[in-house]
Amino acid sequence: MEFRHLFVCVNQRPPGHPMGSCTDKGGREIYSKLMEKIQMDPELFMSTVVTPTGCLGPCGMGATLVVYPEGVWYGNVKPSDVEDIVQSHLKGGQPVERLVVSRGKPPGMF
Ligand code: FES
Repeated sequence: MEFRHLFVCVNQRPPGHPMGSCTDKGGREIYSKLMEKIQMDPELFMSTVVTPTGCLGPCGMGATLVVYPEGVWYGNVKPSDVEDIVQSHLKGGQPVERLVVSRGKPPGMF
């Protein structure tokens, strides 16, 4: 199974901040669910690293996460999307197209 490294935004801004926070949109739950799934799967456990991180940039598309080495950016991710990301992308090698907001670079960057 291909090695992958996921970065999941768990940024938390003060309440009412105009840019919002991925944590308010499920970022921490997404991170926890990913960790649960990966730790329960021996193949994924040996091939996948998940790192919670600060702001990745596209806050308006939160919750966001990015998968390397492909550089697939996911936006508007909900905790309920974790299963699809694990099965389709991490196990099957096929990104979940309905959640992809950019490839190779953060959305909105040239
Ligand atoms: S707060 Fe998550 S991308 Fe900025």
